[in-house]
Amino acid sequence: YRVWLDLANNLTQLIESRKLRELVHKMPVLSPHLLNNHRELRLAHLALGFISMGYVWQEGQHEPILPKALAWPYWLISRRLGLPPILTYADSVLANWKLKDPTGNMDLIFSFPGGESCRGFFTVSLLVEMAASTGIKVSKVAKLRLIKITCFVLDADHVEPNAFHGTLRIFVSGWRDNPMLPRGLLYEGVSNEPILLSGGSAAQSSAIQCFDALLCIQHEGETGAFLTRMRDYMPPAHRQLIETLSVCPSLRDFITTCSSSDLCQAYNSCVSALVDLRSYHLNTVAKYVIVPGNHARSMGCPLRGVGTALNSTGTGGSNLMVFLKSVRNTTQRALILER
Ligand code: HEM
Ligand code: ALA
Repeated sequence: YRVWLDLANNLTQLIESRKLRELVHKMPVLSPHLLNNHRELRLAHLALGFISMGYVWQEGQHEPILPKALAWPYWLISRRLGLPPILTYADSVLANWKLKDPTGNMDLIFSFPGGESCRGFFTVSLLVEMAASTGIKVSKVAKLRLIKITCFVLDADHVEPNAFHGTLRIFVSGWRDNPMLPRGLLYEGVSNEPILLSGGSAAQSSAIQCFDALLCIQHEGETGAFLTRMRDYMPPAHRQLIETLSVCPSLRDFITTCSSSDLCQAYNSCVSALVDLRSYHLNTVAKYVIVPGNHARSMGCPLRGVGTALNSTGTGGSNLMVFLKSVRNTTQRALILER
């Protein structure tokens, strides 16, 4: 499978020099049956995901077909992992890191164009996941303690808004609810009909959905349906944990009925932490999507066509500001008002 790793390792240069598609057309069709453990399968899914996104979006907006040498092994590997054949958050963030040196400094395995901004974007998401992991351990034993979610900080040093918006963002975009590929993508050798799949988004973060489930924050209507659909893009064990937490007896009901002020305060501080995270995140989206999007539009030359097409749609496909405000407001409503 060296040919996959070679392409994925050199992806940024191959996209920038417009050579990736040509090299994919020369790729042999490899059967993935020699991959025989979870780590190998996850690495292959990650590599084929990066190559596929690069292949589809190298030339910006148009309607490509994913060639069989990519589509067929990717499909089989995805089926074995219970993941969809598209780059997910579980790929680009959870599985896309390596230790740079023995002191624990991390680096990405694969990158898209966008230089340091690409590195900053995936790394900050990963740091949020690491901060969230203590909360997940608490969730599993279903004890209520204060979950500290370290607020993420994205600033110009980590991610430059125009580089994010004009260069990186298109490469995590998918082919569902995306005006640039409205009918989906044809996976050659897999299906005769195009397939609709959402792009990568932290809406696929299992950690945050676990907190919602534990704290009984229930998103309804279109918002709830979108978040539930995002679970299809998580590793099956993560999906299962969220579903288990969702059907547990309600922690919130327990706290409201036992009228302990301490419990109430502990619960409310967890919910407030999530409200703060979501409010901060709304500002982030304004800074990294809305402002550069308006700027690109006013200049009349959106880079690679993404500037205007994805201005009101997230890479995951949501109606972004409406969706994110609804999620934040529902979180706020979960606060228990003490009598
Ligand atoms: C959802 C944008 C960074 C966590 C979303 C959505 C957008 C978005 C547009 C809506 C879903 C979609 O259609 O994709 C951004 C931008 C970021 C950023 C522009 C930075 C440049 C982060 C980071 C995290 C995060 C670092 C932390 C893990 C979430 C979560 C959701 C979400 C959890 C689902 C909604 C919720 O549960 O509140 N993001 N995001 N985002 N994002 Fe981000
Ligand atoms: N989900 C993020 C966006 O839409 C990456 O920009």
